[in-house]
Amino acid sequence: METIIVVGASLAGLRAVERLRQRGYAGRIVWVGEEPHLPYDRPPLSKEVLQGSWEVERTALRRDPYEDLDLDLRLARRATALDPTTRTLSLDDGTSEVYDALLVATGAAARPLPGQPDLEGIHLLRTLDDSLAVRDALEHSPRVVVVGAGFIGAEVAASARARGLEVVMVEPQPAPMLRGLGAEMGEVCGQIHRDQGVDLRCSLGVEALEGSGRVERVRLSDGSTVDADLVVVGIGARPATDWLESSGIALDDGVLCDDRCRASAPGVYAAGDVARFDNPLFGESMRIEHWSNAVDQGVHAADSMLAGEAAEPYVHVPWFWSDQYDLTIQFAGRMRANDEVRVIEGSVAERKFAALYGREGRLVGVLAFSLPRAQRKFRKQIAAGMSFGDALAAAGV
Ligand code: APR
Repeated sequence: METIIVVGASLAGLRAVERLRQRGYAGRIVWVGEEPHLPYDRPPLSKEVLQGSWEVERTALRRDPYEDLDLDLRLARRATALDPTTRTLSLDDGTSEVYDALLVATGAAARPLPGQPDLEGIHLLRTLDDSLAVRDALEHSPRVVVVGAGFIGAEVAASARARGLEVVMVEPQPAPMLRGLGAEMGEVCGQIHRDQGVDLRCSLGVEALEGSGRVERVRLSDGSTVDADLVVVGIGARPATDWLESSGIALDDGVLCDDRCRASAPGVYAAGDVARFDNPLFGESMRIEHWSNAVDQGVHAADSMLAGEAAEPYVHVPWFWSDQYDLTIQFAGRMRANDEVRVIEGSVAERKFAALYGREGRLVGVLAFSLPRAQRKFRKQIAAGMSFGDALAAAGV
């Protein structure tokens, strides 16, 4: 292969280019990234960066010199279209590049509220620039409203409380972190935020963000209003596939891939937040927006490119962590609404515990609040397809 193009200069793209060189690929690598920055780590953006305990330099993902990777690096450059028949990628400076293999690692973009007005003081939080803008705003002691109590919302609320600010968090579901943890443990998370002084309003929608020039208040679905100087919207992300729409590559809430990270056109691969694939471990198609998947799938896609027909299947147990207050919440597996949840160690009241999630007799998830050991152990058992009964027995329950 003469030329490999990697589109997307964040975690999955970086791990892929590093892997290609590590495996001895000596051809040309063109690496395209929309943002002006070299790859940085996103998890600290809603935590240490907002709290002011980390300077920006610490978020850099690669410590070794980029020169070692011998890249044709194009930062602040957007890919605009891909033609799989001529294997050509078009860029927003009017140039184009021909590839032998191309990796789509364009990630996901934060979703704004429907009809979100263009007022000062309203922010999304996805990029380093977003994070620095929110950090600056936090320094003016604002009244903070967080919209959405998922990963981003819950961490922003905790970071703002760490600065002693008043925080109202609004969530349409009955509890925070519902998508990640389920109802029962989402409720535990909600209680923690309330105990820490967050004014948590669940089962409520946002009707409007109001103000003139600057945001002044948030109007909720029960007709009430909340005064606000800073609104952070964290209501989820959508895969960055707009530039692929004319390509004919199969898309469905992400780039559809087989289990070798191959998209529907020859020579095109995808990895990270943007990739949707069938995960045989869970018998479902998934698109995983977690840090760990970006790393593993980026590496796997590079291996697949080099292996051709000998490529191995990608099998992955999703896992994530979230730091909120003095807690580290870790979850491995795949949660669904009616899973059985059993605490196996520690105490929920003390916020130090581990719980297993079971579905149709199988172990499908493990949750740990500040007990990392349990999470590591049962992540392996999920991969091994352990039954729920055996997992509970192994835990001594
Ligand atoms: N108004 C208010 N809240 C909403 C709305 C809405 N219109 N739509 C969705 N929500 C709520 C959801 O109920 C959910 O609790 O917003 C929350 C979004 O949570 P996530 O899906 O976790 O998304 P987010 O917090 O934005 O994180 C995006 O970034 O760090 C990564 O891996 C992380 O996948 C996550 C991604």
